[in-house]
Amino acid sequence: MEVRVRGDRMALDLAEDFSRFKVVMCDRTATSFASHQLSLEPSLTLADKDTAWVSLSWLRTTGPADTHWQTGLDQMVAKAAPHGWISADGSAVKAHLEWAEVAPQVSDSFRLAMRRLAATPCLITTMSAGRRHGMAATSVTSLSFDPPSILVCVNAQASIHDPLRAEGRFCANLMGGNHDALLGAFSGELKGEARFSLGDWQVQANLPYLPDAQANIFCSVAEKWRYGTHSIFVGQVESVRTDGELDPMVYLDGRKGRFAAV
Ligand SMILES: Cc1cc2nc3c(=O)[nH]c(=O)nc-3n(C[C@H](O)[C@H](O)[C@H](O)COP(=O)(O)O)c2cc1C
Repeated sequence: MEVRVRGDRMALDLAEDFSRFKVVMCDRTATSFASHQLSLEPSLTLADKDTAWVSLSWLRTTGPADTHWQTGLDQMVAKAAPHGWISADGSAVKAHLEWAEVAPQVSDSFRLAMRRLAATPCLITTMSAGRRHGMAATSVTSLSFDPPSILVCVNAQASIHDPLRAEGRFCANLMGGNHDALLGAFSGELKGEARFSLGDWQVQANLPYLPDAQANIFCSVAEKWRYGTHSIFVGQVESVRTDGELDPMVYLDGRKGRFAAV
């Protein structure tokens, strides 16, 4: 039996084979282990990078409903118990964890490919419990016009991640060629509120926005999913401001530049 984990979803594979039991993380590597805990509990709890606890109630409701299979599961549990493979409260069974190994050459060449993808960075901002949070992101993409919506992908380790999930609203401030100093500040050089010491930040509808940005897109989170190390947020557009000359910052190969038509 195998539990296969892809994104936030768990599926049961080879259910009839009770002779083995493991959890396969199809799209995650062990190096990002810590960030996977929250999204999978309580069906799957990671003990360490080699072991997981799989909830027995999840197995019972996910596996085939026929009594033959349920009896097979009971027998597997009975065999596992003397080895300490059943949790103290009897609610979970221990499984070996297998992680997708990304070939080093793929991850290196993927990085190189992404350095060739030009993008206008945005400063993603939110306000939670009266505190401002912000982060530079190039993962902002137009999703659809009907309804007006955008996507942004945020690393679960980033300081804005949890406030954004909790608050469910954000502003995407599209950076201009004049925002040189802000990019470094919002990608780690400064922390927390100190990031907002650069730029003339204002607040509209309880969201911090940069009035001289190329555009400010105010959104409420309509959907969110976890995938690997990141959360994908769908922002439904509430309102938009655009300002001044068309002069977006263009980020390419780790460098900031400006757009030139050919
Ligand atoms: C040009 C650029 C684009 C970035 N795009 C993203 C992004 O789309 N998603 C993301 O999670 N981090 C992105 N980052 C990284 C975050 O800005 C950075 O990790 C930031 O420090 C957030 O973490 P912190 O608030 O915990 O310091 C980007 C950084 C740069 C310089």
